[in-house]
Amino acid sequence: MKTIFPSTLSGELSVPGDKSVSQRIAMLAGLAKGTTVVKGFLTGEDAMSTLQAVCALGASYRFDGDVLKITGTAGKLKEPANPLDMGNSGTGTRLLAGLLAGRDMTVTMIGDESLSRRPMARISDPLEKMGAKLELTGEKGTLPMIIRGTRLKGIRYELPMASAQVKSCVLLAGLFADGKTTVVEPRPTRDHTEKLFQTLDIPIDVNGPEISLQGFGPTGPKFDARDVTVPGDFSSAAFWIAAIAARPGAELTIHGVGLNPRRTALLDVLKRMGAQIEIKVTQNEGDPIGTVFVRGAQLRGTEIGGDEIPNLIDELPMVAVLGALAEGKTVIRDAAELRVKESDRIAVTAAHLRAFGVAVEEQPDGMIVEGPADLQVPPEPLESHGDHRIAMSMAVLATFGAGPVELSEVDCVQTSYPDFWKHLEKLGGKCK
Ligand code: S3P
Repeated sequence: MKTIFPSTLSGELSVPGDKSVSQRIAMLAGLAKGTTVVKGFLTGEDAMSTLQAVCALGASYRFDGDVLKITGTAGKLKEPANPLDMGNSGTGTRLLAGLLAGRDMTVTMIGDESLSRRPMARISDPLEKMGAKLELTGEKGTLPMIIRGTRLKGIRYELPMASAQVKSCVLLAGLFADGKTTVVEPRPTRDHTEKLFQTLDIPIDVNGPEISLQGFGPTGPKFDARDVTVPGDFSSAAFWIAAIAARPGAELTIHGVGLNPRRTALLDVLKRMGAQIEIKVTQNEGDPIGTVFVRGAQLRGTEIGGDEIPNLIDELPMVAVLGALAEGKTVIRDAAELRVKESDRIAVTAAHLRAFGVAVEEQPDGMIVEGPADLQVPPEPLESHGDHRIAMSMAVLATFGAGPVELSEVDCVQTSYPDFWKHLEKLGGKCK
């Protein structure tokens, strides 16, 4: 349980490493020949569960201060002795399932309560088309999942939903398949997998919405380890960017933030809402990394939908919070995917905003939020439903409120942002 007190926020900080990039690096470093030296790896629970899973498959790691050294298997993964416990990590589960589907071994994957509710048919469908043998033993096409590795063939797959996890799963499986694999995206999603393949000299061809690669068969690709730097997680920075942008007079400087354009649509939304934001790119190899400066203002409502959605998918609970603080209506549409995240983020965000006294209309694929709300103190502690982004978005809203707000089940914050509470206090927030 945490209690958050109303407070003003301002200041300067750096955010932890990107969750999506850290997990992809753990997997690819596990396949590489030699030792991958990683700067900025996220030590949150999701990235660590993926790293542990990769080690159960034969890789090893050690920390040298802040630097992570992962020694890979040169493609020779071994069958793990026990089920892989993926914790809360949807990315780890779905990508690793792709990576393992074409290997000659049987692997079981399990997860926590929230992960065990999340749909896995979205990966078993394309993988089975490639010839994979997967068994989803949960009640509704969910974990536990048993993967019995088989020989795969490449496919052309039109993604039924804009999902970087499904795209990446099929591409990773394609590496171990015979022939060509092509994934077609309905809308552009984060492209960290494609970029890391390029960094590691794994041939991949990106042609607009079509991403193709030539499979290497069951032995997979051979590549050497490379030193890599994980950018700061834009999705973690987003809480503070939003918290400051909506607070007239506040200022924030946030360093080392990953600025991959497929992750930063929140900045465009905030600018439309009237926020003052400046970016200084400090490094431009691979994903751009930079400093974000924010000066707070009274925001106004906006509409968010279409291609913008995948590029701020994890920020949408925070955008709804911004809607409560902005003048007029904020409309979120085309975001039905939010219903199958760590929680049903449409239902949970709408319910929590209502508990703060905000007028919200829930829609099947989004919500309409009316602001600026006269914030009330929620009568009961707000539950995170095991969803880190719900806990952090509500904590930010609580700083704008009329009195102390209680949040329960806040341990989930550890999955992506273990220092969140420390950083809240560093910016002047009060919690206990
Ligand atoms: C992720 C993709 C997104 C995002 C998740 C991380 C990734 O999920 O919500 O937090 O690392 O590929 P979907 O692919 O399900 O949209």
